[in-house]
Amino acid sequence: MKKVLLMSVVALTLSFTSVSAYDLRSNMLLLNADLRDVQQSFISSDKEGVKNSIERFAKHANELLGNKEKFEQMLPENKKHKSNEAVMSAQIIAHNVQIILDAVENKYNQSGKLRREESQRAYTYIEHACFRCHNIVRDEN
Ligand code: HEC
Repeated sequence: MKKVLLMSVVALTLSFTSVSAYDLRSNMLLLNADLRDVQQSFISSDKEGVKNSIERFAKHANELLGNKEKFEQMLPENKKHKSNEAVMSAQIIAHNVQIILDAVENKYNQSGKLRREESQRAYTYIEHACFRCHNIVRDEN
């Protein structure tokens, strides 16, 4: 299943010509698949699944967004000045990933209900970070 998904990601991205657009799109598709795994785990109340999927997601998110210069290289000429947003998004994401991991590990000795609610809210803030940057980079100027 994972392999099939990966193959279709590769096939999809091969249709792109520029190397940087290829990198950006394939990385974003990977991030999207990772985040979907996290969402699925939350919906199923699968705590172990949340932990595993959020760790995988966090690693990829940081690799893609954590380095301004690297992200800038992937952006098209007319969007390069928006690369600052990547680091900002990486910080928002890292902050909320930490909230989720702390909740899973019950770092603050809170009730299960509170921990579920806080980690679920943190998940929506991560989604919001995706939307936020897309709104900015898809503006005309
Ligand atoms: C720092 C900015 C930024 C952040 C943060 C960001 N993206 Fe993107 N994303 C882009 C850019 C730029 C593109 C490519 C250009 C476009 O699609 O407008 C893109 C494209 C995509 C695409 C491909 C869309 C398509 O079909 O062409 C997906 C899927 C995607 N992002 C998912 C995500 C997810 C999921 C997150 C959050 C975990 C996220 N992105 C966070 C900037 C960002």
